[in-house]
Amino acid sequence: MSEVSEAQQRLFQVVATQLADQGYCIIEDALPDKLTLALYQRVTTLAAGALKRAGIGRQRDHQLDDEYRTDKILWLDADDAAESDYLVWMEQLRHGINQQLFMGLFDYESHFAYYAPGTFYKRHLDAFKGEANRVVTTVFYLNPEWDELDGGEIALYANEGSEQSFQSVYPHAGTLVVFLSEQLPHEVRRALCDRYSIAGWFRIKSLGQRVDPQH
Ligand code: OGA
Ligand code: MN
Repeated sequence: MSEVSEAQQRLFQVVATQLADQGYCIIEDALPDKLTLALYQRVTTLAAGALKRAGIGRQRDHQLDDEYRTDKILWLDADDAAESDYLVWMEQLRHGINQQLFMGLFDYESHFAYYAPGTFYKRHLDAFKGEANRVVTTVFYLNPEWDELDGGEIALYANEGSEQSFQSVYPHAGTLVVFLSEQLPHEVRRALCDRYSIAGWFRIKSLGQRVDPQH
């Protein structure tokens, strides 16, 4: 695995501190520009049909729900160089968070997501409280030119009772959002142009019977 630079070390520290203090963190220009661009090129040149409509809920038999989420996804794998570099970077972040917060994160799963114009993902939690094995969510954005008039922001809510979001983030290339999967409801507001991201989850070993919602 490649060396962790001092800049990366500092960044991991910021992520861990903010996760512990406020449950989320937002970092611009988080990954090297070259890698961000390579990931954008990768997702925008995938074979036709490689990205598939995402379903919801394993317990609901992986149904498609046009009212709830309408993005398309493709799980990352390490055969592609850019995807592999991304997974390495996230592995380093996993170590960084564990070293500082003793969270016992043991692995990471992630997928590209493509939101075509008009698509969205309604408010949801990424994990069920108490029984979840997804504990930290990452969302990394790949769009080199994003006009805020095109919407597509992720909106974060403080808790399940909150009516107003307290923070929203536009999907500019290089921006990384990290938050506690069990605590922060969030949504992807309707995007008016092509929107690309990589959503991922650090997991702990599952204690309960219930399995997290599938993405
Ligand atoms: C998800 C998700 C947010 C985004 O895939 O669970 O909430 O901004 N994605 O792409
Ligand atoms: Mn989510």
